[in-house]
Amino acid sequence: MGSDDTAKHKRSGTGRPILIALVFAGAVGLSYFGSAAVLNRGDSSSETPDDGTAAAVGGRKAALKATAKAAKVGGKDMSPVQKIMETRVCGRPAVDGYAHVVPSCLEESPTNKWWQENKPQPDDLDIHIERHADYDGLAVGWGIGNTKGSIEECAEACRQHKPKGPSDGPFGNLPCNAFAWCAFDNCFEPDAHKHGKGDCWLKFTEGPASPEVNMRGRLSLAAQKRHPQAPKEVQWHAGVLLPHGVTLTNGSWSPRHDW
Ligand SMILES: *[C@@H]1O[C@H](CO)[C@@H](O)[C@H](O)[C@H]1NC(C)=O
Repeated sequence: MGSDDTAKHKRSGTGRPILIALVFAGAVGLSYFGSAAVLNRGDSSSETPDDGTAAAVGGRKAALKATAKAAKVGGKDMSPVQKIMETRVCGRPAVDGYAHVVPSCLEESPTNKWWQENKPQPDDLDIHIERHADYDGLAVGWGIGNTKGSIEECAEACRQHKPKGPSDGPFGNLPCNAFAWCAFDNCFEPDAHKHGKGDCWLKFTEGPASPEVNMRGRLSLAAQKRHPQAPKEVQWHAGVLLPHGVTLTNGSWSPRHDW
């Protein structure tokens, strides 16, 4: 079913929205300097499958593996929810420009299962905001023209978001747990779209406690070389929603970091 869906997007052209949507989101504030143990684990689990289709097939196995791995990290005793919120079993969506993202894999992911089983109300989720950053994710709410007055309003829109189902596109069953808000008149993004002030993207990401970071702080020197016109400071603010007690780590770089 997943690959049919993917084929459908491509044909219908919804591939492009997906593409764009994915990229922003973000929030890390306090735990910017996550421990090396957390980093290592993030890196290895995000390497699992580079291909979404393989990910869908091996999803359950990968989930088990990721959990086992997480349990061992540095002998650190993480709560089960923290582990779930750092687990990624469907690969890295931006690795091939979102061409092989498999919605059914995301729906089966530990992150979404937690949402489905716990049905968190808005107040059950903490908002974590990181300014001058952009996190990757799949758009559950289109950002262009969906303007909000502040990053806080954008975050609240994410908390209030209710999945509308498949009629709302390939990610219509997924909750919002990440967001990005354009804080400047035009926000640079290495894609084909224009991003205007106030645009608020609502996204779903696996492992929101260890987000895939597209941009953070200042553009890397490599990115400045590739995009000489881009402002050096990241113009987005981003964030994630996490259950109470879960810590945001600094995450890992998204493939989009190198676009
Ligand atoms: C996370 O923090 C470390 C420094 O502790 C840094 O080297 C690494 O690049 C960071 N990762 C991201 C995605 O910012």
